[in-house]
Amino acid sequence: MTDYGMLSEQLKSLAEEEHGILPVLSNASALLYWNLEDLNWAGFYLMDKGSLLLGSFQGKVACIRIPLGKGVCGTAAKNDETLVVENVHEFPGHIACDGASNSEIVVPIYKDGCVMGVLDIDSPSFGRFAVDDRQGLEEFVQVLEQVTDF
Ligand code: SME
Repeated sequence: MTDYGMLSEQLKSLAEEEHGILPVLSNASALLYWNLEDLNWAGFYLMDKGSLLLGSFQGKVACIRIPLGKGVCGTAAKNDETLVVENVHEFPGHIACDGASNSEIVVPIYKDGCVMGVLDIDSPSFGRFAVDDRQGLEEFVQVLEQVTDF
């Protein structure tokens, strides 16, 4: 089981030195990608001119812009909710950046009560993300919101 509390503490300590978006999100994506098992992508999309723009990530190259309401990321951002998708092939409008992805979790990131981006994590396994992953990642994102100069 992933120790999300430990990852959140590591994120806090990494961000003590520098609060800028690029270093914090880059280290956050690396922390997640290299500490969670069975992933093929972990990273961020940030709101830019009314759609989601690719941010820091670990994994294969990904689509650069996602309209609000499109795909898992755009739907989570538009509906202001975490989405856990057990089988991405059954999700209407899923955007297949990496054909290896079979399940996905997307957690909104907030600034001043509004969605300003999402954390997106993909796995090659179906049903990879359980309730404890959702809880741990939502807490990780709350720490991220506190320590980053968004
Ligand atoms: N699958 C996502 C697109 C982003 S990639 O997974 C990195 C979606 O449907 O929104």
